[in-house]
Amino acid sequence: MSKVVFNMTMSIDGFVAGLNDNPENGLGDGGDRLFKWYFTGDTEVPISDGTMVLKVSAQSAALLNESFKRFGAGIWGRKTFDIAHGWGGHPPGSPAFVVTHAAPSEWVYPGSPFTFVTDGVESAVRQARAAAGDRDVVLCTATILQQCLNAGLVDEIDIDIVPILMGRGVRLFDHVNIAPVDLEILRVIATPLVTHISYRIVK
Ligand SMILES: NC(=O)c1ccc[n+]([C@@H]2O[C@H](COP(=O)([O-])OP(=O)(O)OC[C@H]3O[C@@H](n4cnc5c(N)ncnc54)[C@H](OP(=O)(O)O)[C@@H]3O)[C@@H](O)[C@H]2O)c1
Repeated sequence: MSKVVFNMTMSIDGFVAGLNDNPENGLGDGGDRLFKWYFTGDTEVPISDGTMVLKVSAQSAALLNESFKRFGAGIWGRKTFDIAHGWGGHPPGSPAFVVTHAAPSEWVYPGSPFTFVTDGVESAVRQARAAAGDRDVVLCTATILQQCLNAGLVDEIDIDIVPILMGRGVRLFDHVNIAPVDLEILRVIATPLVTHISYRIVK
């Protein structure tokens, strides 16, 4: 069965964005530091149908290219969708499921790259799994991870940890209300700008 895998970049003190994150200030105050590893390497990795090119280390590039093959669908929260301006219609993982209370009418049309899910994360995971077939599903925002952890829907946590202290902002593990759970480290890839760690949730 395909897996549900979380992936985001996090500061070592647990933040995925700074304060005041909004469409004009994407990763919030000071949050650009989180994505330095995506733009300062020497290996190009095209994403979003080639509309954007990352520049990462060779080690990170190998990991990203592997993940593009691995993931058959992605799930985001509406805030990130709005901040990214819908990635101009080219989401970094597709098909793309966006969890929201109300679908934005301009993006609802036959052939839209987005499916807006208004009945919660369980439904989003179910729909994304169906779309992904035997490939895995990636979850990419904090509120979605938190709800999926609370619902026991997550199989792996893949975190890109960057060596910064944000101090304040959007906390990744806010609102998590679960009993203690063991994680198994599956892989650690250390580079000068980011450490990629994969954990399996022991069930
Ligand atoms: N560090 C990284 O790797 C990385 C990657 C991507 C994004 N980011 C940043 O990280 C931050 C993520 O923000 P976030 O995690 O707080 O927000 P988010 O998950 O992107 O979006 C939260 C919104 O999604 C909708 N939503 C979530 N659960 C729902 C449910 N069960 N039912 C209906 N609607 C639901 C609600 O929007 P509505 O009520 O408006 O519908 C909610 O306000 C952003 O600043 C983003 O730019 C960081």
